[in-house]
Amino acid sequence: ADYELSGYASFMHKEISEQPEALRRALLGRLDERFATARLGGINLDARALRSIRRVKFLGCGSAYYAGQLGANLVEEWARLPADAEPASEFRYRNPVVEEDTLYVAVSQSGETADTLAAVQELRRKGGRVIGAVNVVGSAIGRECGSGVFLHAGPEVSVASTKAYTNMGACFAMLALLLGRVRDLSVSDGARIVAALSELPDKIAEVLEAEDAIAEVAEKHSTAERMFYIGRVRTWPTAREGAQKLKEISYVHAEAYQAAELKHGPLALIDATMPSVVLIPDDELLTKNLATIEQIKARGGPVIAVTNAELPNGLADSVIRVPRSEPELDPILFTVPLQIFAYHLARQLGRDIDKPRNLAKSVTVE
Ligand code: G6P
Repeated sequence: ADYELSGYASFMHKEISEQPEALRRALLGRLDERFATARLGGINLDARALRSIRRVKFLGCGSAYYAGQLGANLVEEWARLPADAEPASEFRYRNPVVEEDTLYVAVSQSGETADTLAAVQELRRKGGRVIGAVNVVGSAIGRECGSGVFLHAGPEVSVASTKAYTNMGACFAMLALLLGRVRDLSVSDGARIVAALSELPDKIAEVLEAEDAIAEVAEKHSTAERMFYIGRVRTWPTAREGAQKLKEISYVHAEAYQAAELKHGPLALIDATMPSVVLIPDDELLTKNLATIEQIKARGGPVIAVTNAELPNGLADSVIRVPRSEPELDPILFTVPLQIFAYHLARQLGRDIDKPRNLAKSVTVE
């Protein structure tokens, strides 16, 4: 029954709508309120082993790579361990340095992506410590890793990943919380994060309730042939994932850029025909992000602000509202309106949402 459309116009729409319940499944039994940490039994690392980790590297392809980047940011922020993400396809071909005290995380919805599987095999051959973050239980990557964290998103049929992506974000938040709490993340910060994570499914449900308003914004900008997606620090992976969604299903060209890098080249592209989707969380970089909007407006570029802040009236041409959460979780929460935006824009253009041209749900060839 999971594979049926059950009244939805497409699997992508169904899967977007399923995100609150999918996320609840990922969190179930994994949040430890008493010790303000996460319990991830599948990773098979005790506190001592967790403390011996000096670096974390996420490997994945496509959306799984962007989710890994989001995860790396959380690990750095909460565990204060150097962390990064790399496309698994690059890693396997560049004779990577494999370190004993690095925790490698192989990220894959399907668990069958050939490039990611090959990266895991290369890591294991070199004695690297690798865990999986996969959705499909029993998949090749899950089996090859032998331990890890299952995403529990349920079956994902649409080529464009939605609920698996948000669950990756939440699972990496729990991993970062766990790594942080065996180090210097305080009980009070741990408790704040546990509470915010358990509220996240309801916040996503709130975003879903605003679907009609987001659809209107998408319709308004559906004649654009190209767009920028602008993020900064925490929201940079979110901007990349948002741009990816638009490209995949609408065929509108979208490029993600870090806000402060705009002035080093891309501003030259801005004119009245090129809207920018600007992510503006109400965090310590708010004034910087408002300045970014001004820079785009000054060149005549339309601005679609995605925000949980109070923006000065008339600053943005369109505003997509996001509920407030804890700032570290904004990168996950802000992904959902971008999915809905891409979905409605692609629909407006009459695209085949679930089966975009030239793409496959899981790429099992090199
Ligand atoms: C394909 C899909 C993408 C997906 C990527 C990685 O390219 O079209 O949506 O992000 O593979 O898939 P995985 O199953 O490894 O997460």
